[in-house]
Amino acid sequence: MGCYIMGIEYNESARTFRLNTPSSTYMICIVDEEQFIGHVYYGKRVPDADLSYLMRIQEPPFTPSVNNRDRVSFLDAFPMEYPTHGLGDFRQDCLSVRTENGNTACGLRYRSHRIFAGKPPLVGLPATFGGEKDCSTLELLAEDPVLQLQVTLRYTVFEHLDVITRSVDVKNTSNKSIQLTKVLSTCLDIDNRSFDMITLHGSWARERQIQRREVGYGRQSVSSLRGESSHQEHPFVALAEHNATQQSGEVYGFNFVYSGNFLAQVERTQFDTLRVVMGIHPEDFSWTLAPGELFTAPEAVMVYSCEGIGGMTRTFHDLYRNHLIRGEYRDAKRPILINNWEATYFDFNTEKLLAIAGEASKLGIEMLVMDDGWFGARNSDDRSLGDWVVNTKKLPGGLKYLVDEVKKLGMRFGIWFEPEMISPDSDLFRAHPDWAIQIPGRVPSLARSQYVLDYSRADVRDYIYGQISAVLHSADISYVKWDMNRPLTDLGSCALPAGRQGELSHRYVLGLYELQERLITDFPHLLLENCSGGGGRFDPGMLYYSPQIWCSDNTDAVERLKIQEGTELIYPLSTIGAHVSVCPNHTVGRNTPFSTRGYVAMAGTFGYELDITKLSPEDKEEVKQQVAMYHRYNDLIRRGDYYRIASYSENHEDDCWAVVSKAKDEALVVYVRVLGQPNMRSRCIRLQGLEETAFYRVEGGNTVLSGAALMNAGYCISGLWGDFQGRLIHLIRVR
Ligand code: GLA
Repeated sequence: MGCYIMGIEYNESARTFRLNTPSSTYMICIVDEEQFIGHVYYGKRVPDADLSYLMRIQEPPFTPSVNNRDRVSFLDAFPMEYPTHGLGDFRQDCLSVRTENGNTACGLRYRSHRIFAGKPPLVGLPATFGGEKDCSTLELLAEDPVLQLQVTLRYTVFEHLDVITRSVDVKNTSNKSIQLTKVLSTCLDIDNRSFDMITLHGSWARERQIQRREVGYGRQSVSSLRGESSHQEHPFVALAEHNATQQSGEVYGFNFVYSGNFLAQVERTQFDTLRVVMGIHPEDFSWTLAPGELFTAPEAVMVYSCEGIGGMTRTFHDLYRNHLIRGEYRDAKRPILINNWEATYFDFNTEKLLAIAGEASKLGIEMLVMDDGWFGARNSDDRSLGDWVVNTKKLPGGLKYLVDEVKKLGMRFGIWFEPEMISPDSDLFRAHPDWAIQIPGRVPSLARSQYVLDYSRADVRDYIYGQISAVLHSADISYVKWDMNRPLTDLGSCALPAGRQGELSHRYVLGLYELQERLITDFPHLLLENCSGGGGRFDPGMLYYSPQIWCSDNTDAVERLKIQEGTELIYPLSTIGAHVSVCPNHTVGRNTPFSTRGYVAMAGTFGYELDITKLSPEDKEEVKQQVAMYHRYNDLIRRGDYYRIASYSENHEDDCWAVVSKAKDEALVVYVRVLGQPNMRSRCIRLQGLEETAFYRVEGGNTVLSGAALMNAGYCISGLWGDFQGRLIHLIRVR
């Protein structure tokens, strides 16, 4: 018959591989004497071992062994698991090369396979993980006999989640060097069923806005060439049936576990099939493989949902909470922090920080984070990046004195770094101008008055790491905010040979990963929060190193509704850095109620970003209540199942999300109405995810309603007066 390991089955007579998750089946077939690796099916789980009729190889133009006269037609129509360049498949391919004699084509043949329990790590790359009881892996070994290139297609199937991950190894088994010019990580050929494409777009202070559009003929993509996953587009694409909603319809989500340049593309072909691909963007990429060398393309995650967009979201959340994020904070409540950035910007000293900490500690805030400006001569954003030495004029007595004083208040201490950057006006740049990424003969383009350090170089990484670890050893520091405030340009490394300059962008990301791995290994108790001009590098790659990421520099409660909705589409609430800030808001100038700012920040890690010494007594009282609210509900928010109930970005009126405990015995609903409306009756919201037959009491009153009523008739929210009003509703199961 073949071989079966939990979730993965090989049927020898049909030559099919069937990958099963709880609700989905993914099928691959080896076809023809030439051993093409064909994609058969991905969708709702089916019991059949062989669906290879779906590849339509019986229909003209037939397979090459039957009709080689139309080989190109075959290659251009056949659903390929991993399409290659230059031989007749004119759709987007995943693999292309440049050989020593200048050719670019390649073609793969199946050679062998391996099925085993568990999931191997990807060396030097972030990836989801799981034990032998959680998942099983299929490795298909393919070969281009002409190039003597071996390609391993790796698929991992999760036992309890509708997730399949993919990654690719390419090995040069010839005796000549070969240049890889494109190595994407995943491909899916699927018949079009009126699919829409969901992607995320944005800008600084406006990250991850949801866009849904019909897939048209030709290629439509999102991508980044900025050296980071970016504010502008996101390494995510979903195919959703046109009538799919939050609660129903089939949805396929693709997310790239990588933090640099990416391409995520959907192509609608002449035969009305779709090809989805995802991987490192081939532009600005090349990689030379010497004989015997191996290249690993990062992991792509594929999620299948037959329960609409919400089903996809909850699967991503569970996958990332349990199989991506690491460290002691993964499942732990995070300390409520207060960050001084919006309170002081660069204008602070020990006295000011201690005044903030003193007031914050009285109100129950647990950690002070000192942001940008504590080092070198950093009194504005045009200098000193790279000089990670405490400025004792601002901090007399040094860091240890400040931290000890903060600790005396019963608080912990956190600090900001921007380790990937170098200011032209810095001692570091004066000593090592060649450490900046640059092209000889050109003055590199500045952004925020700074250059990017060449993280492809081990000497640069070692030096910066030495500086960071010296600071972290000098005082009791519990938290680091790791920032990155400009994109990569002027791609040139003073250390790479000419033939390897195309490797810089990827080597940069590998260097970043290496450094963060080193940091969390040496400081296992540190809480690391990644950040990039707000949320410019919020991706699963970074979540492998830090359990939370600053979501956006925009802390306005209304703008955050849209930013957080887009982020929550993929990422768990426990990962989303969200703070209450002052009004008028520093980004948009809007005034919103303090309570609503608290409700919005509750959908994340929660904290404050304001000068707490200047708050009114009423607002200070409100802080105390918000702190209590956080402690009461954060376990549920971090661990529960997330439901999107109303979307302000779609309806332009109100926003509502809920978390329901896994046992369905408790739920928290947060509702925000943006503008007040005249002469309107109360708004009834239909909840989701409750137990139909259970009864729930609304906290703070005697109302008891069934799950069925709350989900079908709805819960009415009344008494909203004024703009930007929020409500928090806590439901407790009573029977
Ligand atoms: C970025 C971050 C902010 C703040 C500043 C400091 O913009 O996103 O939160 O840390 O840098 O320069």
